[in-house]
Amino acid sequence: MAGIVKETPFVKTFRLLPSPDGPFLPFTFVPGQFLNVAFMIGGARMNRSYSISSSPAQREYVDLTVRREPRGAVSRHIVDLLKVGETIEAGGPIGRFTFDGTEADSVVLISGGVGITPMMSITRYLTERSWPGEIFFIYQCRTPSDFIFAGEFAALERDNPKLRVTVAMSRPEGTDWKGPRGHLTKELLAQTVPNLAARRIHLCGPPSMMDATKAILAELGVPAERLKTEAFGAIKPAPAAPGTTAKPTAPATGPLVTFSKNSKSAKIHADQTVLELSEELGIGIEFSCRIGTCGVCKVKMTAGEVEMAVQDALGPDDKAGGVILACQAKPKVDVAVEA
Ligand SMILES: Cc1cc2nc3c(=O)[nH]c(=O)nc-3n(C[C@H](O)[C@H](O)[C@H](O)COP(=O)(O)OP(=O)(O)OC[C@H]3O[C@@H](n4cnc5c(N)ncnc54)[C@H](O)[C@@H]3O)c2cc1C
Ligand code: FES
Repeated sequence: MAGIVKETPFVKTFRLLPSPDGPFLPFTFVPGQFLNVAFMIGGARMNRSYSISSSPAQREYVDLTVRREPRGAVSRHIVDLLKVGETIEAGGPIGRFTFDGTEADSVVLISGGVGITPMMSITRYLTERSWPGEIFFIYQCRTPSDFIFAGEFAALERDNPKLRVTVAMSRPEGTDWKGPRGHLTKELLAQTVPNLAARRIHLCGPPSMMDATKAILAELGVPAERLKTEAFGAIKPAPAAPGTTAKPTAPATGPLVTFSKNSKSAKIHADQTVLELSEELGIGIEFSCRIGTCGVCKVKMTAGEVEMAVQDALGPDDKAGGVILACQAKPKVDVAVEA
């Protein structure tokens, strides 16, 4: 890691260089994609996903911008303890929450809090490329001191005459904030973006902000296919490490799950996922988001059938090859997985 910048009291940007040393990154990415990083913390391996906030036009580095969650296992490790010069294990890039200017002739980027990170990569890239389309950048945070990347917007707007930035503060009391106050409203979105329903929209932020904004966009007549969203993780705390999931008390009566590499089998509880059962048995399937986005929990299923509410992280090759997302997989019949 080559540099750390404090963006707000709880958010820092970490600049990663290629390792082993080389002038250029060993991968390319599309703005909006993320990396999966892994750390050993308290003797346990933990994975988390972080969107790349820098532009893919910068081939020498990637920036990750991380918010310190008050009780978060990994974000506190990153924000409080990481030092320049340390090596970080990172996989990817992955993700389909992308926009590189080829998908539409204008774009509306709506974010809240640390959900600004993919939007920043997109905006920086489109600006560097002198993309001719209009960019409506709409951001919500609590106070002016929580406005991540605040210092960069004047330069971005100067460099990009097609960039329109609107920032709303939900708790500006006691500050000299002169812009919109409160949460994003139907009126604000409709006034800020002419012909909103006809444009491509990206949305990323805290769950409550995303739910409220989705409802507003539906009221404004935005068709579902024009709206791309990315959630940053489980609302409830994820267990810290494999083996730490509380064991259900009632006996399991569901289909039998066999973890072939560990030579262990057990019946699954009602509504339990393959990942949760693996944690109960101490199998050690790795995970990050637990919402079907990151792909860290991919395992190959060699027999059986599962249902998965979300399969965002599976590509056509995965599906053809019998790969499932353990965090989403609920067995319909007895299954066997390579774990
Ligand atoms: C595709 C994707 C992209 C992402 N991009 C970013 C990004 O760019 N920047 C970023 O900062 N994050 C990003 N995230 C979120 C990130 O991956 C982590 O989920 C986040 O950093 C929290 O991880 P953690 O280990 O600190 O928290 P965890 O330990 O996993 O805890 C999860 C949440 O529960 C809370 N919690 C934990 N323990 C308790 C407890 N005992 N009681 C009550 N609450 C508790 C934590 O405060 C936290 O909010 C992204 C996630 C995804 C899926
Ligand atoms: S843990 Fe992220 S897709 Fe399953």
